Amino acid sequence: MARPHIEPYVELNEDFKKFDQLGTTGSHYKILSLDVDTGACTLKVRYNAGFSRPPGMSYSDCEIFVLNGLMTVGDTTCVAGHYFFIPAGVATGAINVPQGCEALVMYNDSEPSFIESDTNHPLANTEGFISVNSYEDMPWGGGSIVSPSVATGCMIKILRYDPLSEAISFLYCMAPKFMQDNISYHDCAEESYHIWGTSWMMQFGELPTGGYFWRPPYINHGSFRCELGTLAFGRTDSKLHNYFHFNPWSNVDENILRAGAHLYRQRPDMFKWVASDGHNHPHGPDDFQNPGYNHPHEH
Ligand SMILES: [Fe+2]
Repeated sequence: MARPHIEPYVELNEDFKKFDQLGTTGSHYKILSLDVDTGACTLKVRYNAGFSRPPGMSYSDCEIFVLNGLMTVGDTTCVAGHYFFIPAGVATGAINVPQGCEALVMYNDSEPSFIESDTNHPLANTEGFISVNSYEDMPWGGGSIVSPSVATGCMIKILRYDPLSEAISFLYCMAPKFMQDNISYHDCAEESYHIWGTSWMMQFGELPTGGYFWRPPYINHGSFRCELGTLAFGRTDSKLHNYFHFNPWSNVDENILRAGAHLYRQRPDMFKWVASDGHNHPHGPDDFQNPGYNHPHEH
């Protein structure tokens, strides 16, 4: 089972718990989302002044986004905005937190794990390692980085792109008075943490600083408004395609059918190959937005 829908959730209202499972002391955590089958999770972690951890690796791909304070990881000094993608088995240097630090810490494949080591695991995908200060060392791109484009005034920095799954991790911002009138959904799960600012969605109301969501595929979200600006960290678990529409009443099942109809129109033979596995009569799904344009090869 994948992670459940959590939206809206405001972590600033919740308490930290002591985090000493990984052989270290001096840190605390909150769970923002959790896959109870695999243990994959997104945590907010507070590292107390004086926290240290020896060099080591995890059995899961791990992403870290520094929210405030300062940590050193090996020879790298990381302040707010620093982003790591650490593939499973890649060993990082010792972590030291001289005066306190908070970060989002994400384990993508399994529960948090730590193995002390100063060498990489022989099977580690070392080329996948990313370390960058996303605030200082990357430019904003337009919203057309995703397709079809979001409205003008929402800008994006892609921090990581998986060339096989097309999953992305990204920083995004909404300008003051940003608005987008349509409704969107995706084939991917979508996750966001509000670093600063409040924005509004028709279905979920206002999400303030410290707001978070993990949103499974095909759930309507939008229209959108932002009064004073928002800075946020986001991720998807596969390709983000914006299925835009204006029907606030469509449900997840109807949205899935419409996405299937989209695939059927664009790649009918691939659709038939997939849909006919175990069935005799594949036909295109219904598209509530385009009735009558569902079965181009059946006429
Ligand atoms: Fe979205």
